[in-house]
Amino acid sequence: MSVMPSWIDATTPLTTGCRWLVPRKEVPVADSPLTREGSTRLGPDPKRPSWGSSPAGIVIWGISVMSIVNLSAYELRVDLMTNRESISKRTLAVAPSATLAITAKANQLRAEGKPVIGFGAGEPDFATPPAIVDAAIDAARDPKSHRYSPAAGQPALREAIASKTLRDSGLEVEPSQVVVTNGGKQAVYMTCQVLLDPGDEVLLPSPYWVTYPEAISLAGAVPVIVPTDESSNFTVSLERLDAAVRDRTKMLMFVSPSNPTGAVYTEEQTRQVGEWAADRGIWVMTDEIYEHLVYGDAEFHSIPALVPRMADRCVVVNGVAKTFAMTGWRVGWMIGPPEVAAGATRFQSHLSSNVNNVAQAAALEAVTGPLTAVVEMREAFDRRRQTMVAMLKGIDGVACTEPQGAFYAFPNMTGLLNRPLGGATATTTMELAALLLEQVNVAIVPGEAFGAPGYARLSFALSDADLVEGIDRIAGLVSSS
Ligand SMILES: Cc1ncc(COP(=O)(O)O)c(C=O)c1O
Repeated sequence: MSVMPSWIDATTPLTTGCRWLVPRKEVPVADSPLTREGSTRLGPDPKRPSWGSSPAGIVIWGISVMSIVNLSAYELRVDLMTNRESISKRTLAVAPSATLAITAKANQLRAEGKPVIGFGAGEPDFATPPAIVDAAIDAARDPKSHRYSPAAGQPALREAIASKTLRDSGLEVEPSQVVVTNGGKQAVYMTCQVLLDPGDEVLLPSPYWVTYPEAISLAGAVPVIVPTDESSNFTVSLERLDAAVRDRTKMLMFVSPSNPTGAVYTEEQTRQVGEWAADRGIWVMTDEIYEHLVYGDAEFHSIPALVPRMADRCVVVNGVAKTFAMTGWRVGWMIGPPEVAAGATRFQSHLSSNVNNVAQAAALEAVTGPLTAVVEMREAFDRRRQTMVAMLKGIDGVACTEPQGAFYAFPNMTGLLNRPLGGATATTTMELAALLLEQVNVAIVPGEAFGAPGYARLSFALSDADLVEGIDRIAGLVSSS
């Protein structure tokens, strides 16, 4: 049974311009994303024959995606028909963030009075701990905060991040290697800008976080999708990496704990991946933003700490958003070898200058203060994780591996496709997401957004009561259909 969206044939990359390992068509390196046309996973590319010649495909896309990303018919028409040539190819190629779109759609329906339960949010439902907020209030009153500060971040914060990295990862770095950014997201973007040239290839294990392929493509490089599956708990094997590596391979994107799967690599696996990259001279961007959110026996490990010879080929991405319930404050950082940090600083000095000083003061309090609130939040997430996994497993047609980190479950939902649910039938998880929102006011993020059709991401960073109610609604729809 095919679970691919109906407009995508089996050989078409979900992200245009990606090179897929198997079984997808190879895209020549010359076909860099900078030369490609149209939008990516979530939108039609008018130049693709399957779209251009298939009105049915456009209708199906319109129904399933418009309802998810909240495009009105007018906006869709404008998107397809306005003067596209005025917009840069680079910009046209950027896919909207499906996760932010789902959250926005859920919020909009809620504002309209619908009792929507949203599993889309990639953020803790807790308030930022009071001591952190107090530090920000003090900083806001200090005139020093009202002025520009160094583009790479305030010296005290860079020093504190270096100390915190030694404390939490066992990795010793100089404050000068730290660049404070507007969230971990900007750190991902700048890592790609600083390290990648057009035509470079980046190994990207799938399912992947939505921002990675876009950040790679925006640097003119090519994401090479390396599939993982439930049999390895969504961790990538060295064999798969070996099969994907080529002369142009410059970097590997590594994330543990993972968004969207919740996978956590063991110490041995982390070391092996680091050694593998070191042996081949491949850079690693290691995204450690969920480092404190691990459950059960799982432990967080950092590649450059385990494999010291990777220190000069590794960029660590991190931030305060997930650990301290600070998603809205927008403070992250990257840590790299001196020339990478210097390059990123130059880049940032033109892109955005310093991160908001008040937010930096809050982040300083977060990384130097106690982890008490973090431990409490982790306990709540763990409790919800167990509830969610047990409830999902109880639904006929849903299978769910146990996430060991972050705050997402990533169930296999293929068993809910091609069967009547509340009078309608979904053939893809994209359509299933639209169906659930329509029929039971439950928002999930379809796996297509993460390069994994057939799956869905459900965040368990919501209240226990909402979580139970939301899964109950899905279960009720399935059992009554
Ligand atoms: C894996 C991963 N890395 C980085 C980020 C960026 O977080 P922020 O930009 O909010 O610091 C996120 C946010 O969802 C994430 O899931």
